Amino acid sequence: MEELGIKRIGVLTSGGDAPGMNAAIRSVVRTATSQGITVLGIRRGYNGLINGDVTELNARSVNGITSRGGTMLFTARCNEFRTQEGQKRGADACRYLGIQGLIAIGGDGTFRGLRDLSKFGVRTCGIPATIDNDIASTDYSIGFDTACNTAVQAIDKLTDTMQSHERTSVVEVMGRNAGHLALYVGLGVGAAAILVPEHGFDFEQDIIEKIREGRINGKNHFIVIVAEGIGHTNEIAERIVESTGIDTRVTIIGHIQRGGSPSARDRVMATRMGYHAVNTLISGKTNMVVCYQNSQVTAINIDEALSMKKELNENMYGMLRYICK
Ligand code: F6P
Repeated sequence: MEELGIKRIGVLTSGGDAPGMNAAIRSVVRTATSQGITVLGIRRGYNGLINGDVTELNARSVNGITSRGGTMLFTARCNEFRTQEGQKRGADACRYLGIQGLIAIGGDGTFRGLRDLSKFGVRTCGIPATIDNDIASTDYSIGFDTACNTAVQAIDKLTDTMQSHERTSVVEVMGRNAGHLALYVGLGVGAAAILVPEHGFDFEQDIIEKIREGRINGKNHFIVIVAEGIGHTNEIAERIVESTGIDTRVTIIGHIQRGGSPSARDRVMATRMGYHAVNTLISGKTNMVVCYQNSQVTAINIDEALSMKKELNENMYGMLRYICK
């Protein structure tokens, strides 16, 4: 470490927040400061970097944040950082603030910012955090487990009232263009149908027949999970009423999925990833992103990470036709 002379690093959170970001910040701060490295917390993502909106963090200033949702550093999406001019301003700010290495916690957009910055000589490492779990280079992104649990708990409550009224619930869950969250949540709540953007669906076969079959077998309420990337959630509900005559309600869970105290899995994963990110910078590497692959925390080159494509878990998806009824 000393030979490479890394004395000061910055940490920021960027893009949509995710439960566990605070635990990752705490881990970065404690891993770095324990090894004699000063940590500057950069507020409001890359905007904060450009504007020099920083505060020094030490082991004590991150006390008690592991259990808190959101991010103590705030987060933002920064359009200026997509331009060369913005990236240069970010690199100049690093030089001015004495930041030799930067750790950014977020999704692919956040990593693109790091890649651009590394071209100006700043050592960079990303930590994957998004409830969408759509980052191709890693099997797991911080926040996914908590978001799944939040959605499952909300839908369990819905199920109680749907059962009492013998209704169908059409529930939209987040995930942007990906269906990972919808697939996990749908399996977790015992949905009758799960619609994900990675697969087309046949309205009659994949929804109506499931409901009819369920009714014949004595089921009186149904949950249909619609991933945000599918859209048309209200329209789907209207068509269910037209085809089955069952009273149907729509619930869009929305940003509730982004909040809340992180699960044990997210806290531990964030702690492991934060630790790994700091040590990756200390080892002299740059333009890297931490990943969870084959049950190991590791790090790979950002360009390689960004060139990868995340597939839906097809084994899990294949189960739906047997399980969802
Ligand atoms: O990427 C996380 C996410 O919550 C997506 O699931 C969703 O599409 C998007 O962010 C919402 O973004 P915003 O908070 O900017 O409305």
